[in-house]
Amino acid sequence: MELGLDPRQEDARSTAARLGRTLLAPDAARFDRDGGYPIDTLRALGREGLLGINIPKAYGGRAAGVVAYVAAVRELAAHCAATTVGMMVTNMVAEAIAKYGDDAQKDAYLRPITAGQWPAAGFSLSEPGSGSDAASLRTTAVRDGDHYVLDGTKAWVTSGGYAGVYLVMARTDPEQRSRGISAFLVEPETPGFEVARAEEKLGQHASATTQLVFDGCRVPAANRLGPEGIGFKIAMNSLDGGRVGVSAQAIGVATAAAAAATRHLAGQMDDLAADHADRQRELADCATEIDAAWLLCLRAAALKDAGKPLTREAAMSKLFCTEMAHRVCERALRIFGADGISGAHPIERYLRDVRVTRIYEGTSEVQRIVIARETLRLMARQA
Ligand code: CAA
Repeated sequence: MELGLDPRQEDARSTAARLGRTLLAPDAARFDRDGGYPIDTLRALGREGLLGINIPKAYGGRAAGVVAYVAAVRELAAHCAATTVGMMVTNMVAEAIAKYGDDAQKDAYLRPITAGQWPAAGFSLSEPGSGSDAASLRTTAVRDGDHYVLDGTKAWVTSGGYAGVYLVMARTDPEQRSRGISAFLVEPETPGFEVARAEEKLGQHASATTQLVFDGCRVPAANRLGPEGIGFKIAMNSLDGGRVGVSAQAIGVATAAAAAATRHLAGQMDDLAADHADRQRELADCATEIDAAWLLCLRAAALKDAGKPLTREAAMSKLFCTEMAHRVCERALRIFGADGISGAHPIERYLRDVRVTRIYEGTSEVQRIVIARETLRLMARQA
């Protein structure tokens, strides 16, 4: 596996680093404090090719692959994890459209995403009554001529109210579980579609997180993504890639936290090696764990770039990277002492922002289920 970045990947990374510094960093604390949604920043990310990093050039994408994508996510998240999750979900939805969409769907939806005409695209799987057990979702899609009628409530939708299109999973066959779920591309102007409750959250305040309500919402049958019954597979396949992105996002936050703690310590110590063994150990563990996490993340990204299965490796990456990032942010806060919990330093924001990475796109417990199942399958194949 190649560990360095090739020129295409480096271009995506350095573009993200520049935009992270110039666009995300100046607004991160204000959005965290006052709320709001970074609509202009996300559109600018689109114009710079960061909303379609793994999308073919024919559809306005960067065609730079998944390693490029995680390198870009890591850079952006070091400045503002909340803006970055909007960018990540948009890339995930764009990839689903590029992979499963027909020509008309790709023509209609990919260009507005990759050009930054829309600030975001949304992904809608969870419901108030179904999170980890995603296949038990209850939103229905009933065929009526050349439309489907959607009814139900979705939850925890990133960029709710701002997305130009939502990828919505709904039940088309009540007799089946996961095989009874289909995927739909829903435009926000569709009658019967409403953005409902905005969630108040611990962190990532610049990411609008809302419920969506479908009340007799008539979606053209032409907007079904893929055949009937494969919506759950589309969702799971998308989340395999999404989880690699969340890994990189968590690493980005951890990197920023570790760097802040290191600068803080350096300002306090004349000789780091001499009499600060405990602090030195904290820094060494942070640096080592961040690098170990990055290797897991790169492995999963490289597998996806190679078109190989990555379910197990993506889950391992997400589990380790997000748990690691939380530990690193905790350590960084300890290094700052009481100052760490004040708004004068971004450390407390890092800690609040990083917590949800252990929850969204599949909790750590879900990742362990996936890893255990896939490991058993692997062993059975090898027996
Ligand atoms: N790729 C493709 N297909 C997959 C798959 C994958 N990674 N994982 C499962 N499938 C397929 C299976 O092959 C199976 O297909 P068949 O019926 O043809 O055999 C089907 O899907 C059902 O699979 P399972 O029996 O494994 O499904 P399950 O109900 O046991 O699911 C689970 C288990 C892994 C816990 C799953 O429900 C899951 O991942 N839950 C977490 C959901 C999640 O991550 N939600 C996040 C929502 S988005 C968000 O967080 C907000 C945001 O936007 C940031």
